Amino acid sequence: MNNNQMPIGVFDSGVGGISVLKELSCLMPHENFIYYGDSANAPYGTKDDAKIKKLTEDAIDKLCSLGVKAIVIACNTATSIAAHSLRKRLSIPVIGIEPAVKPAATNHPGKNIVVMATPVTLKRKKFLELTSNFSNMANIIPLPCPGLVELIESHSDDTQKIRTYLKDLFAQFENTKISVVVLGCTHYPHIAKIIKEAFDYEVEILDGGEGTAREAMRQLEAIGELNNSENKGKIEFLSSKSDEKEIEFMKKFFESYQPRGV
Ligand code: DGL
Repeated sequence: MNNNQMPIGVFDSGVGGISVLKELSCLMPHENFIYYGDSANAPYGTKDDAKIKKLTEDAIDKLCSLGVKAIVIACNTATSIAAHSLRKRLSIPVIGIEPAVKPAATNHPGKNIVVMATPVTLKRKKFLELTSNFSNMANIIPLPCPGLVELIESHSDDTQKIRTYLKDLFAQFENTKISVVVLGCTHYPHIAKIIKEAFDYEVEILDGGEGTAREAMRQLEAIGELNNSENKGKIEFLSSKSDEKEIEFMKKFFESYQPRGV
């Protein structure tokens, strides 16, 4: 197989990164993908750094052993912990994701911007540096959301628990007008509509999925490894929960996810 026909490996702690996978496959429909979700170990975002690093490295090694031409870490938490060391160790492109603070602050100067993410993402130096670059432009409010990933992973069609969680979470903004909500965890775009509805006025919702897909395409193009096939690419789903129901759940998530830029 030509290098350019090899699949792109996409990884997340669970089903969240399927939001990024959808962006990738919309942008590069001829590419093949292997998506690996470590749902048996989700959530990552409340674990200690060493544990997250080990889980991420093991998952990426698994994808590499399947013969991928690039890795997309479709998880903000795992990116902030492990992207740097993986890039040093691997000879293929490793593309990560980070909260879309830059477009939020640039397009909404002087406004209140909430960044929803896991507790780990928000306390990392990477995030603190990112926000300090834009804190003179807008008021950036980090909002840790422990427990939200579990609700999204739960396979439940009942969204009431999520609505209640968000109502309690956003109660602190009763007297603060929020202009933008940045979804700094790849699970949250799957509930973007519910997050929007939790406000009784218009808020803009931003996530880093599309930017990450564009960066992956740019890096593959730069090394001449974009797939030149004219056929539609294949997508394979793998989960550490070795259970057929989980794979069905992943496929359903993929089909129903609607990137906001489309
Ligand atoms: N999708 C992961 C992220 O973007 C969720 C992390 C978790 O498992 O807590 O941060």
